[in-house]
Amino acid sequence: MTAKDYLTIDDFDVSGRTVLVRVDLNTPMDPEGNILDDMRIKSHIPTLIDLEDAKVVLLAHQSRAGKSDFTTMKPHAKRISQHLGRKVEYVDDIFGSHARDKISSMNPGDVILLENVRFYSEESLKRPAKEHAETHMAHKLSPLFDFFFNDAFAVSHRSQLSITGFTETLTSGAGRVMETEISSLDRGIKGGESPCIFVLGGAKVDDSLKVAENVLTKGGADRVLLTGVVANVMLAAAGVDIGKVNLDFIDSQGYTDQIDRAKIVLDKFEGKIGYPIDVAMNDSGKRLEVHIDELPDGGLPINDIGLETIVSYSGEIKNAKTVVLNGPAGLSEVKPFALGTHEIIKAATESGYSIAGGGHISAEVRNLGYEDKFSHLSTGGGACIDYLAGDLLPGIEALKDAAVRYRLNK
Ligand code: 3PG
Repeated sequence: MTAKDYLTIDDFDVSGRTVLVRVDLNTPMDPEGNILDDMRIKSHIPTLIDLEDAKVVLLAHQSRAGKSDFTTMKPHAKRISQHLGRKVEYVDDIFGSHARDKISSMNPGDVILLENVRFYSEESLKRPAKEHAETHMAHKLSPLFDFFFNDAFAVSHRSQLSITGFTETLTSGAGRVMETEISSLDRGIKGGESPCIFVLGGAKVDDSLKVAENVLTKGGADRVLLTGVVANVMLAAAGVDIGKVNLDFIDSQGYTDQIDRAKIVLDKFEGKIGYPIDVAMNDSGKRLEVHIDELPDGGLPINDIGLETIVSYSGEIKNAKTVVLNGPAGLSEVKPFALGTHEIIKAATESGYSIAGGGHISAEVRNLGYEDKFSHLSTGGGACIDYLAGDLLPGIEALKDAAVRYRLNK
């Protein structure tokens, strides 16, 4: 038995058994239905390898209803099969008789991927686990399985049927992606080796402030260095005149009220919050390096952290034993303003243990070819932010509840 508060594949003998595994294969796709990024698909291979003696049925979603890439899982089955080196059969059904017949006739070693679970609209309803367990889908599928594994960390911030429903009806545990995400992100939040530094950027100011508050309150982080739009909000909170154009941008994103919140955070965690000493302004597409004491009246858009800040942040990051990056430092899709993001990523590869939050920053890590130099790249976007911010993820809570029930009944 593991001493964790959730169960894992190691807790059960899955050989020859039928297992339902919720995976997150959600990926950008082009209009022709081609997969543009298979990071998440590859991430589940260790789970599938550890379940190779079982009959494995994968349940996953692609996009959301109403979006142009809300489509079938057929290409995903082909791609998993390529990475796994074994056949993964796509089944054009979720829980109808076709899917159920296929599941019932599986042999150990077989892997099936069912159709996009969000084609069934009840999947996307936000409901308590117990109500999900009473749905048609849960009733039809549950009797066919011995175990349920949730390996879909990236969607575990959703209280959806396939995330929490089966933990009520089946003996359940976490897959390898889920385990790795929890243990790696916990090194940042709960304090891995010190000094532990969080570098928070991107455009979601409220999320970044929430993460900063959480990790500084819990004592996981020794310092939080701010970049991106949240750094501009913090500069304004610290009384720096960042100029009308930047204040207007903050307002257009609905974050003006976050300036007061940033002030509170700054006062509360004095000395623990770092913000830029200089910035790169966008002067007709070129970088204009300006110290924060010399920002021009009216202003130009601040699109990256400045060179002195890059040097100072990089020094702290390289000396850190644990580093968590979330969100780009500037407008990283525009070349001159990608500098801050790239240098911070490079510095993180020289730290003791480096974690990249999901989404934008982890895509940048991969674009730079630094995937193998990072200790952990999160597969989660919203799920990763929520976890770092200290929110309880319904998918993980459901696994904990399932573990309590299992241990009580043993
Ligand atoms: C993601 O891409 O972040 C996850 O797959 C969750 O997708 P959702 O935001 O559509 O629920």
